Amino acid sequence: MQLFSRFSLLLSLASLWVARAQVISAGTTVQLGSNYYFVPGTPVASLKLTENASALGQLQTLGGNGTAPFIAFSFITSTVSSFSVSDLQNITSTWSSIDDVWTPSFLEGIYLSFNGSGNAVSGLMAGNGTSIVISSESFSGGVSLTATIPPGPYFVSPFTGQIFEAWLLYNDEQQSFVYGTIPDGKGGFQQLSAHIPGAATESVAVPSRLYFTPTAQQPLAGARIGTAPSIQRLIDGGAIIVGKTKASQFANGETATDDWVDYHSPYNPRGDGYQDGSSSSTGSGTAIAAYPWLDYAVGSDTGGSMRGPAGVNGAYGNRPSHGAVDLTDVMPLSPEMDTAGIFARDAKSWLTAGTWWYENFTTFTQFPKTILFPVDEWGSSFLTNPPKNGTANFIFNAFIEQLEGFLNTTRTEINLTTMWNATSPLIANVSNPPPPLRENLNLTYEALISIDQVQLVADPFIALYQETFSGQAPFIDPAPLTRIDAITNKTVFMNWFQDTVLNGTDPTTCSPAIYLYPQSDGSTLYRNLYISPPTPPFGFGAGRIASFTGVPDMVVPIGELPYNSTITNTTEALPVTISFLAQMNCDLMLFNLFAALADAGILKPVFTGQSLFSLAPIEE
Ligand SMILES: *[C@@H]1O[C@H](CO)[C@@H](O)[C@H](O)[C@H]1NC(C)=O
Ligand SMILES: *[C@@H]1O[C@H](CO)[C@@H](O)[C@H](O)[C@H]1NC(C)=O
Ligand SMILES: *[C@@H]1O[C@H](CO)[C@@H](O)[C@H](O)[C@H]1NC(C)=O
Ligand SMILES: *[C@@H]1O[C@H](CO)[C@@H](O)[C@H](O)[C@H]1NC(C)=O
Ligand SMILES: *[C@@H]1O[C@H](CO)[C@@H](O)[C@H](O)[C@H]1NC(C)=O
Ligand SMILES: *[C@@H]1O[C@H](CO)[C@@H](O)[C@H](O)[C@H]1NC(C)=O
Ligand SMILES: *[C@@H]1O[C@H](CO)[C@@H](O)[C@H](O)[C@H]1NC(C)=O
Ligand SMILES: *[C@@H]1O[C@H](CO)[C@@H](O)[C@H](O)[C@H]1NC(C)=O
Ligand SMILES: *[C@@H]1O[C@H](CO)[C@@H](O)[C@H](O)[C@H]1NC(C)=O
Ligand SMILES: *[C@@H]1O[C@H](CO)[C@@H](O)[C@H](O)[C@H]1NC(C)=O
Ligand SMILES: *[C@@H]1O[C@H](CO)[C@@H](O)[C@H](O)[C@H]1NC(C)=O
Ligand SMILES: *[C@@H]1O[C@H](CO)[C@@H](O)[C@H](O)[C@H]1NC(C)=O
Repeated sequence: MQLFSRFSLLLSLASLWVARAQVISAGTTVQLGSNYYFVPGTPVASLKLTENASALGQLQTLGGNGTAPFIAFSFITSTVSSFSVSDLQNITSTWSSIDDVWTPSFLEGIYLSFNGSGNAVSGLMAGNGTSIVISSESFSGGVSLTATIPPGPYFVSPFTGQIFEAWLLYNDEQQSFVYGTIPDGKGGFQQLSAHIPGAATESVAVPSRLYFTPTAQQPLAGARIGTAPSIQRLIDGGAIIVGKTKASQFANGETATDDWVDYHSPYNPRGDGYQDGSSSSTGSGTAIAAYPWLDYAVGSDTGGSMRGPAGVNGAYGNRPSHGAVDLTDVMPLSPEMDTAGIFARDAKSWLTAGTWWYENFTTFTQFPKTILFPVDEWGSSFLTNPPKNGTANFIFNAFIEQLEGFLNTTRTEINLTTMWNATSPLIANVSNPPPPLRENLNLTYEALISIDQVQLVADPFIALYQETFSGQAPFIDPAPLTRIDAITNKTVFMNWFQDTVLNGTDPTTCSPAIYLYPQSDGSTLYRNLYISPPTPPFGFGAGRIASFTGVPDMVVPIGELPYNSTITNTTEALPVTISFLAQMNCDLMLFNLFAALADAGILKPVFTGQSLFSLAPIEE
């Protein structure tokens, strides 16, 4: 009984609410030509139609007296005195080449902002499907706007004159995104409510590129970025967050398909399309390799979460120096090793984003003369038998030869294992010889990621204890002691690698040396194979160096290797990529080196889709 009366009270409150509620647009999905667009709920400006009854009447007639919610318009700004059809052609051909959102269908209406004579305006209506031309000054008295808006495609309400931006909807075929996002109008972002009718996957909306002009203050203006954490610095730089991409659970290493239980693993677009996309920044790596409409994607890297996806998806992707980005509010895996990197498809735009994001680093435009070539990562056969054409090593070697030519130097072979044995600081302290490199660091990574408290709790506690008790160490249980061991082992290796292997710093090139190792070699990892259960991440290899030492590790695509696909029964190709290490905080030297290598034609932009270099990009 009591329950019932409470229920009816709720009902009456609800009807009161309904009676007062207004319908507020959360945006609309419209079709124009063969494209679907999202029209945001909030206008960016309005035509002052009350200024011009003739324009109002024409618009309303064109709007079918209420049947058409929007008219597609091109907003054009010009300073010429008499705007002609050829001026229009000039502008629209530029727009076609730089923007995927504007299409000739937006010539249904033209709004022309200029100061000249209106006589030529009527000529614009010849052909082209243009039904109405409104000009700021000269057309029957002109119509002005309530706010200044950038040139480009818009949707105009024929009744209110409200002007809305045009956001083109794309399908997320690779299943890289959790969802698309749009600005919420309050400085934040909200989930995109629109969906391409009939599409089986999420939709992502992108605004016209014509709305944005990059400047020194906003070098990323209009750049479309898919992102996992929220990254204010990139937004401040003008980047448009278009969606949230998928990561493996807790940013751990997971292999498609078995390990991905909550989300289906995003699809690597390369080769036959059925290869593993690596983890944990899988959605970002697959999206940048697949979608020509996306400019950048970001992700985190603790033990390879940027480098792995960059490698197998064939993209530019970096693990920056530790501490390069403030990771407040980003989910930690191991604060001693967590970093945030950025994916791009060419060295030049990668440089723009890196220079903006890693704001506190000094730029270096002279490059090291020492190329360290660790034979224990490359294999000694690489040197004794020059690699054969048709192998990944052939691609690696050809690239390193070009790099040698560019830097006017030759590679310096080192064996990291032998070097450690000969010069490790542990020789004097612990034993002689020191514990072998790969055994010494075998458990370190796993121990570090198993517990965050080392840095957050244990370190401050031990420091305070020692300060209080004249330098004495506290008793620590065996289990936590392993983690503390891990920090010690990491620190010893870090100092040795930075000081002895990379040989400190250099005033002109930042890093005395660069250190090369193979990142991906065109191997297959089919996503339809049943895999063995996951194991803890033991072991030490070149990929751990940056995690342990804080130095940048940047992955660049250099070629692709053919293979016979068991999926398509044809010859496909998979990415070959190489990793560059340099001294800590020398990230911008590497970014500049890659841009210079791009200018020299040694590094090339990658296409989206099946093939990095040999095929045309996927048609949208
Ligand atoms: C719109 O209404 C006007 C005046 O009522 C009428 O002349 C015109 O034919 C109508 N247009 C359409 C497309 O229905
Ligand atoms: C407009 O139509 C004319 C003739 O059909 C054509 O030559 C011209 O290229 C079109 N202009 C634009 C901007 O599309
Ligand atoms: C075309 O437009 C560009 C600017 O967008 C301008 O620099 C150029 O002079 C124009 N060309 C012609 C033929 O009008
Ligand atoms: C970079 O420098 C600025 C200004 O000193 C500072 O506010 C910011 O926290 C620094 N960023 C990082 C990641 O250290
Ligand atoms: C590197 O050195 C280790 C130990 O000194 C040795 O076992 C290994 O064969 C060497 N690797 C190469 C490729 O020479
Ligand atoms: C390697 O082989 C490919 C095709 O088999 C050929 O096009 C290319 O010229 C060869 N490269 C060299 C350096 O011999
Ligand atoms: C390359 O290095 C050699 C030897 O150090 C030097 O003689 C030569 O001038 C250098 N060439 C260039 C282009 O820097
Ligand atoms: C390590 O160095 C010692 C000499 O300090 C040498 O006897 C031993 O063979 C070296 N081990 C390896 C694996 O290079
Ligand atoms: C690393 O540790 C694992 C797990 O204890 C062990 O199976 C493996 O043999 C170790 N490898 C090395 C090189 O010490
Ligand atoms: C640290 O190094 C010591 C000495 O080589 C080794 O016994 C220990 O297993 C290592 N522990 C970790 C967690 O790296
Ligand atoms: C390390 O740098 C110093 C100069 O700082 C130089 O004298 C020395 O030769 C370098 N060592 C190596 C191994 O390159
Ligand atoms: C693919 O298979 C054909 C036929 O067996 C063989 O000739 C060719 O070398 C293979 N290509 C690759 C890249 O393995």
